[in-house]
Amino acid sequence: MNAALPQPSAAGTRPSVLAPMQDVTTTAFMRVIARRGAPDWFVTEYFRVHESSTPERHIVDSVVNHGTGRPVFAQLIGEDTPHMLRTVRELLKLPVAGIDLNMGCPAPKVYRKNVGGGLLRDPAKVDELVGAMRQEIPGLFTVKMRIGFDGTERFDELLAVLARHRIDLVTVHGRTVKGLYWSEVDYSAIAHAVRSLPCPVIANGDVASATKASRLLAETGAHGMMMGRHAIRNPWIFAQWRDLQLGRTPFRPTLGDVRAYVQDLADECCDLAMSSEQRAGRLKKFLNFVGLGVDADGAFLHEMRRCVTLEELLACCDRRLLGPHAHEPYADEPYRGLVARPTRETQQGCEL
Ligand SMILES: Cc1cc2nc3c(=O)[nH]c(=O)nc-3n(C[C@H](O)[C@H](O)[C@H](O)COP(=O)(O)O)c2cc1C
Repeated sequence: MNAALPQPSAAGTRPSVLAPMQDVTTTAFMRVIARRGAPDWFVTEYFRVHESSTPERHIVDSVVNHGTGRPVFAQLIGEDTPHMLRTVRELLKLPVAGIDLNMGCPAPKVYRKNVGGGLLRDPAKVDELVGAMRQEIPGLFTVKMRIGFDGTERFDELLAVLARHRIDLVTVHGRTVKGLYWSEVDYSAIAHAVRSLPCPVIANGDVASATKASRLLAETGAHGMMMGRHAIRNPWIFAQWRDLQLGRTPFRPTLGDVRAYVQDLADECCDLAMSSEQRAGRLKKFLNFVGLGVDADGAFLHEMRRCVTLEELLACCDRRLLGPHAHEPYADEPYRGLVARPTRETQQGCEL
């Protein structure tokens, strides 16, 4: 494993990263995204670690079979040091770019076990766990964190722990655990982490467009940007930001391009073994985000949510995205006032 951070694919640009998202950042989704301009690297959805865990096969598949040519970091969630180290050793046998520790998951069932976002309440535990993992990981060891649990009082203490253990890169999602996915992102806290840490910082949270990515880069001083839900809505965001940085005119997708993306999602991200209704249910989870840029009055979202079968859903997409609409531009940022059906924090973790 190389100890140098991955270089962006285009010289003179800052790195962009696809956010780890449970049940979204799958092998298939990574491929679908990469076809429209890959991020500079990926982070897997988290491997859950406990005393009887083995690395989940579908997540291993996303490390081994993504075929995008871009590096992939393997993310872990857990707090039991011996089992975390055992899992690290297993994952280091895979072609991973590095190991990433989850210190942000806000699902109550997760944080109550003092893992994910729960770790942020206990800097002494973070010190012990991160110190042991650092000893075990000869290459890149990264952390993805929020700015606190229910406030930012312990942020400095946590940053000092990460600095002491020579973490190679820290991604900061500028919300507290209690802020879930909708509170206003505190970009000044990300800027504070950039100033405090000796390693590069990737900024995360509502990086909604290429233009906003460039603005936030200047505002926070971050090394690069991580996009999650906005990449589900707009899979061209990584290519657009690269183009913007290189002084080229970014690709402007039309609704016809969006229809082709929807077909890729239907063909590759919805299990063919599922019924038509189940596939429609899965596709709608993506369309909840895609629909935010289709029309200002939310007519597409309204109509697609009422479809039951996959056939009905794709016909709805044809009506709204093809024919006279095919050449209409797809909005760069979500239309104001529209909401994706909120991300649910389930008992298990986070899912669409
Ligand atoms: C459906 C979903 C699943 C997520 N799963 C994970 C995960 O497995 N690991 C993680 O560190 N963050 C996870 N996150 C958080 C994202 O990585 C990211 O930090 C968050 O969505 C904010 O970025 P965004 O505004 O660009 O979406 C998840 C988010 C969503 C919406």
